Amino acid sequence: MSRHFDYRGRWALVTGASMGIGEAFARALAGRGMHVVLCARSADRLAALAGEIQARHGVRAAVVAADLSRPGEAARAWAEAEAEAEAGAEGPIHLLVNNAGFGLHGRFDELPADRQAEMVALNCTAVLQLAHLALGQMRPRGSGGIINVGSVAAFQPVPMKSVYAATKAFVLSLSEAMAEENRGSGVRILCLSPGPTPTGFQAVAGTRVQLGQPGVLTAEAVVQAGLAAFDAGKTQVAPGFANRVTSTFARMLPMGVAARIARRVNDSR
Ligand SMILES: NC(=O)c1ccc[n+]([C@@H]2O[C@H](COP(=O)([O-])OP(=O)(O)OC[C@H]3O[C@@H](n4cnc5c(N)ncnc54)[C@H](OP(=O)(O)O)[C@@H]3O)[C@@H](O)[C@H]2O)c1
Repeated sequence: MSRHFDYRGRWALVTGASMGIGEAFARALAGRGMHVVLCARSADRLAALAGEIQARHGVRAAVVAADLSRPGEAARAWAEAEAEAEAGAEGPIHLLVNNAGFGLHGRFDELPADRQAEMVALNCTAVLQLAHLALGQMRPRGSGGIINVGSVAAFQPVPMKSVYAATKAFVLSLSEAMAEENRGSGVRILCLSPGPTPTGFQAVAGTRVQLGQPGVLTAEAVVQAGLAAFDAGKTQVAPGFANRVTSTFARMLPMGVAARIARRVNDSR
């Protein structure tokens, strides 16, 4: 695969762009000269970020407010994003960053089933639908890219984050299979698996992390590592030495052993 990916003057759709890792993606891609469509639920926050990005980077930034956990919303968001991109001369969406997601901490039977199903709808179903729509456009063109944001939680079962870890295992497996199906097609696919990153994620999940703890990186560092891996044509990356080591070893252990270790690590946080 040619290593060059065309960022400048092309459009990206970034989901979950109103804060955290998605916001850092939007800023970094605009810094590379991409026009960006920012998608999340918080329209006001997205509008403020779009204004700031346009002023700072001289690119176009559009907003699509959507609750991607709801049926039909991923398709509507994609259609609106495509319309924004097509409205200019710069053409269709060239890069999809499937980043919107959330986690929950707690025992499976004690967390509300509906909220856990909402997590599956956002972390899995919306990712699947957007990737499908993106590939349907990109593959015939023979160019484009998709970055699916997974997690180091994908590499083993994680007690007290059971559904979250399962959704991210789905993202990892789907991404690797898609990457293989599309090898040589001109469309590149990366699964970015961050470790703990201080963002809005912890307030929603009911957890805590601090910079300085093993494997903890800033959202900006996660995005830089993700884009470096994407530029290099890799299919997955877990940024940070500690996360690389733990995700590699987790895959070598029997699942039950990995789950027991994951529980201890979680309990100590
Ligand atoms: N932070 C971590 O420790 C960590 C570690 C590994 C993986 N990740 C993954 O990284 C991704 C980004 O998370 P983050 O850490 O940046 O968390 P964050 O700061 O909470 O950001 C989550 C983003 O998703 C959006 N979002 C949430 N629910 C949504 C919905 N129903 N529809 C549309 N957008 C929605 C949020 O915006 P609105 O609230 O405005 O909708 C926000 O922009 C997630 O997939 C997460 O699983 C995070």
